[in-house]
Amino acid sequence: MSNKAYIQTDDLVKVYRLGNVEVQALRGLSMQVHQGEMVAIVGASGSGKTTLLNILGGITRATAGNTVVAGYDVTNASAVQLVALRREIVGHIFQELNLIPTLTAYENVELPMLAAKVDGGRRKARVEELLSIVGLEDRMKHKPDELSGGERQRVAIAAAIANDPKVLLCDEPTGDLDTETGSIIVEYLHKVNKEYGKTVIMVTHDPSVARQCDRIYRIRDGQIISVQSPTADSESEAVSRVDVIRERLTEIKAEIDRLDEQVKTGTIDLGVFAGRRTALTDRKKMFEEELHRLGL
Ligand SMILES: Nc1ncnc2c1ncn2[C@@H]1O[C@H](COP(=O)(O)OP(=O)(O)OP(=O)(O)O)[C@@H](O)[C@H]1O
Ligand SMILES: [Mg+2]
Repeated sequence: MSNKAYIQTDDLVKVYRLGNVEVQALRGLSMQVHQGEMVAIVGASGSGKTTLLNILGGITRATAGNTVVAGYDVTNASAVQLVALRREIVGHIFQELNLIPTLTAYENVELPMLAAKVDGGRRKARVEELLSIVGLEDRMKHKPDELSGGERQRVAIAAAIANDPKVLLCDEPTGDLDTETGSIIVEYLHKVNKEYGKTVIMVTHDPSVARQCDRIYRIRDGQIISVQSPTADSESEAVSRVDVIRERLTEIKAEIDRLDEQVKTGTIDLGVFAGRRTALTDRKKMFEEELHRLGL
């Protein structure tokens, strides 16, 4: 287990059989996601994205291959263990939102906690906390058809994180929304990822949403065809930052040498010298620490 990534699939195969028709939805799909990452899954319709998410979430079983989610052996889990996985480890936002139309926003968020037998007092406090996390304190009594698409999506996020899962699976969370509303939803998902430390796997067809993730997995015909790290474009920014720091360090060292020379030749007041030298060495130390932080 120790050499496995936080979330890992190895050669996943999924064959759906309908009568004598076979669909190969996944054809040897391998991927790794690290704890705390937010990754996007992109690919054409029918490429296997939902199938992958459903296997990670313990809803569908793979035909072959191995799956580990947050240290949990999904491949060999019993039906009972898969229920526990769904209740305790993963939160799942489905492509067709699974909100119950007859229940209010409050009740929809409360539902997973009822399933997990959370006691009444804690439930109430948690529902209120969750609805405020997604900015819907004033929509508690609304039923899904009394909410906008973006609001419904936020209720689904609140319900998915109700039992404090380690991993959040989101299937097209911005699917039917306009760009503006979609970006609000993505903001909330980033918040869940960064502030609450959840590992997030999000299926999306929106390139601008995908680019905001740590990595993008591209699926075609049930296989990963590429992995991109859009935020690692900031790697080149990091490189230029290193250059700037090195340049500043060289300047500071030269200034210190000049000061030392001046004090030797008596062309500088000792008090002034002491103050400037301390200030310069402090800055030098700060820049050196920053270089150290950048792994240099
Ligand atoms: N329950 C099922 N029974 C039979 N075939 C299925 C089933 N679910 C999915 N498929 C087929 O498996 C393939 C992959 O479907 P999947 O839903 O994973 O695609 P997707 O990438 O999520 O597509 P979309 O972007 O349209 O949501 C498709 O060809 C689909 O028709
Ligand atoms: Mg899908």
